[in-house]
This record gives sequence, C-alpha cells and structure tokens, in this order.
Amino acid sequence: MSVVKCDKCAPLKYESLIEAADYIKTKISFTPKVGIICGTGLGLVGKIVENAIPIKYEEIPNFPVSGVEGHAGQLLLGYLSGVPVMVMQGRTHHYEGYPLWKCALPVRVMKLLGVTHLIVSNAAGGVNPKLNVGDIMLIKDHVNFMGFTGNNPLQGLNDKRFGPRFLSLTNAYNKKLIQIGKEVAEELNIENRVKDGIFTCLGGPNFETPAEINFLKLAGIDAVGMSTIYEVITARHCEMEVLAFSLITNITASEDNSDLEHDHDQNVDVGKSNEGLLQCFVKNVVEKINKL
Ligand code: HPA
Repeated sequence: MSVVKCDKCAPLKYESLIEAADYIKTKISFTPKVGIICGTGLGLVGKIVENAIPIKYEEIPNFPVSGVEGHAGQLLLGYLSGVPVMVMQGRTHHYEGYPLWKCALPVRVMKLLGVTHLIVSNAAGGVNPKLNVGDIMLIKDHVNFMGFTGNNPLQGLNDKRFGPRFLSLTNAYNKKLIQIGKEVAEELNIENRVKDGIFTCLGGPNFETPAEINFLKLAGIDAVGMSTIYEVITARHCEMEVLAFSLITNITASEDNSDLEHDHDQNVDVGKSNEGLLQCFVKNVVEKINKL
C-alpha cells in the first residue's frame, strides 16, 4: 500500500517564486500595480491591454500551465487606462491535477513583482434564482468547501515572508472595491446585471448534480465555480486587496429544473458574447482602483 507522504518542506519554495518573478522582470521595465486573473471565456479582456507584452506560462520557470479550452495560458504585461497591469489569460484548476498551492502560485509571483490589487474573475453557475445568464456577481464572501475537506492553498510550512500561519478572512473581499464595482455598473448603465453574492468553488471537473445544487442553496450559496477561492486566500495571505467577480454563464440544475444539462462551450460563449461589456467593466474598475 502506498503511503501519502506529508511533505514538511514548504511546497512554494521562495527561491522558485523569485526565479519566476525574475524571468518576468527581464521582459518588462515597469512595476505592475493591478493583477487581473481572467477565468473561462474572460481572457478577451486581454485584448484591450495597451503595449501588451505576452509571456506564455510554459516559458516561465516553475509556473503552472493550463490546458483548459477558453484559457490562452499566457500573461500580458502592459497598461489599462495608463495603469500598469499584469493580466493572466487563463489559470490552472485543481481538477487539472495541480495541488491548490500550485494553482495559486502566480498570485505570489504577482506579489513579488509589486502587484497590490488583484481582480479575480471566473465563469460560474447561478444557484440563486435572482441571477441570470450574463450577470456579473461581485463576490462579497465565500464558503470554502474544499477547505472543509482539509484542502487549502496555504497547507504545508508557512513562509512568513508572504504572511501569517493563521489568516483572518473576515474582510477577504474588499468592501471599497465592491463599491467601485457597483459605481462602474451605474456608469455603464448595467446596475440591473451587476449583483453581489456568496460564491463557492467545488473541485470539478463535473458540474454539480441537482441534489448538490439543492444542498448549496440551503448553505446560502449564490453561485458556484471551480476556481478563485484558492487565489483569493493566497492573495489575502500576502496582503493584496481583492475584488472578485463571477460571470454567470449558466443556471444550475436543481430540483426545480433538474433536466437542465451544462457544457463548457456555453461558458466560453457567454464570455465571448459579453466581451465588450467585460472589457469596459474591468478597465473602469482599474481606473478607479488607481485613484484610491
Ligand atoms: N458549476 C461549476 N462551475 C461552473 C459552472 C457550474 O454550473 N458554470 C461555470 N463554471
């Protein structure tokens, strides 16, 4: 019988992260202020990055490489409204076989490069009937079911150079940044499509059963995806300010509509058909973050 070894060495060796950051530094001559992680179908936000320098994930030492459709798998370093940004076009997920610390590794690399504010996006299924396909849900809190099972990106030896062993997550989702999201929604005349709510991330890659969705409803969940929480935890650990949002790409199947089937292509398509809106939304949010 094979025994699962508890690796006492910090999985995220500081030197490995420095190596990744140093590689990126050789390509740029500015300090990125805002990091943006684009989820499924949301990578099109990258199209509006000015003077973009692309760097493929596979070029960067120790970086996790995503193979999911709808994820370009590259960084774009450049500017949005004159603000220096570092955009991740695609991310890795636990279901690709990576441990959570590795999925979240790019967040620490961002920190080492000077990023202070992180915008995290994802495609998610609407659990709360108040959410419609195409809505943007500003995440105001999360329930970390993967954490309930003992799976957490901060597992292993803690490296104090990033943050404390025991992390408070009371204000994980910055209220000022949520307010900025709401203000931008008003400016763009999309208040009716921008809501706030509680997010959860499950392991995937299958979508949830109707019974699981009924359970999530009982737990007060508004939207469900397969990412984000591990990046948010890692970002808060190293004191980055976080705004996270879900693009609602489908309504989940529950006991009320239990024949509803899902597919990943729909998630990508909803991202594409909201391209212009998401670009404006993110650009205006970045502009306002820069003025804080
Ligand atoms: N469930 C989980 N993840 C998702 C969904 C969903 O319904 N839609 C997009 N990502």
